[in-house]
Amino acid sequence: MFATKLPLAGEFMTQNHVAFFDTTLRDGEQSPGCSMTTQEKLTMAHALEDLGVDIIEAGFAMASEGDFAAIATITQAIRKPRIASLARAKTEDIEMAARAIQFADRARIHVFLASSDLHLEYKLKISRQQALDQTAESVKLARSLVDDVEFSPEDATRSDRDFLVEMVRVAIEAGATTINMPDTVGYTTPEEYGQMFREVRERIPAVDAEGIILSSHCHDDLGLAVANSLAAIQNGARQVECTINGIGERAGNAALEEIAAALYVRGDRYGVNTSIKLEQLYPTSQVLGQIITFKPSPNKAIVGANAFAHESGIHQHGMLANPLCYEIMTPALVGVAKTHLVLGKHSGRAALRHRLEQLGFTLDREELQQTYYRFVALADRKKNIYDQDLVGLLPDPIRDRRPVPVSELD
Ligand code: KIV
Ligand code: ZN
Repeated sequence: MFATKLPLAGEFMTQNHVAFFDTTLRDGEQSPGCSMTTQEKLTMAHALEDLGVDIIEAGFAMASEGDFAAIATITQAIRKPRIASLARAKTEDIEMAARAIQFADRARIHVFLASSDLHLEYKLKISRQQALDQTAESVKLARSLVDDVEFSPEDATRSDRDFLVEMVRVAIEAGATTINMPDTVGYTTPEEYGQMFREVRERIPAVDAEGIILSSHCHDDLGLAVANSLAAIQNGARQVECTINGIGERAGNAALEEIAAALYVRGDRYGVNTSIKLEQLYPTSQVLGQIITFKPSPNKAIVGANAFAHESGIHQHGMLANPLCYEIMTPALVGVAKTHLVLGKHSGRAALRHRLEQLGFTLDREELQQTYYRFVALADRKKNIYDQDLVGLLPDPIRDRRPVPVSELD
């Protein structure tokens, strides 16, 4: 297989390795209810290391003393992933980022500068030429301080394409080793985003010839962040930026767990490999949920409480016959303990019998039928049915047949 040499620490990556760049501690932290202390960031960084991410963006050194301290602490405690700090394309930001990461074994400075006319005119009030000059100067400065420099033309997807290509070319000539093309406001679509990666590779031969890594960075304003990230990968992106549970600005960033699971489950379509230890996805999501102020919604793919729960009778019957009927991956694959057959008003006799047997009650046909009627009546009134409720539905003679005392139930 063709091997591309990256400019850092003698590492080799094969062309079909997709590096995971986790930005939970930077872009993720930028959302309401997600700010973390240095200690909490460190806990999360350890979880990300166990998960197998390739790069941790630990913060934005210039943003605050807290961010600086968190980055510096993480660089001294974490050894396997590279540690990155974000920096605007300004001397003071880049020098601050370099100081924050100085103790990392392998460090990266991530420089960004807007490329869309909207941002240049209204936010930065600079011309296109000034933006190109600032790109060259800032990337050169960063490269004089570290070997590994990522450059992001912010708002890439709403930028004039010729100008975007020009800015990317300037960044590469100045020494950028990774080019990230963010969909800053979650505006693009999979076809359009994929095409952008294809075009940049076609128009700048140095990208493939010199092993420059192209990276995706997607926000979820239209609910397309993961689909857009996957489209970028199909068109040559070999780094994907994402966050645990998809936290991030506004509607969030692309969810790491969804991209990793999709690349694995649909490996037939994507044909790439990653270093992510899939069985750590759920535990990592849990660690984050305990640190920030909210958990993923129950119906969140991969890590939500209902991601492996089945309530309807038809589904439960199929699951008991063969889990493949209604599950495209085992819960164990992503670190979830087991499938959950939830008993509710859509459940059937098969699931009720199964749960009662797990609780130690074997009912004959008539007993099950009578209990089922009472169960459906209860489920119509009550949202959650617990084991104690089920046992309460059983007549005393059946309950007395159970060896384990009822007080020991869940
Ligand atoms: O969304 C964005 O454009 C960013 C950049 C700073 C990479 O987060
Ligand atoms: Zn972002």
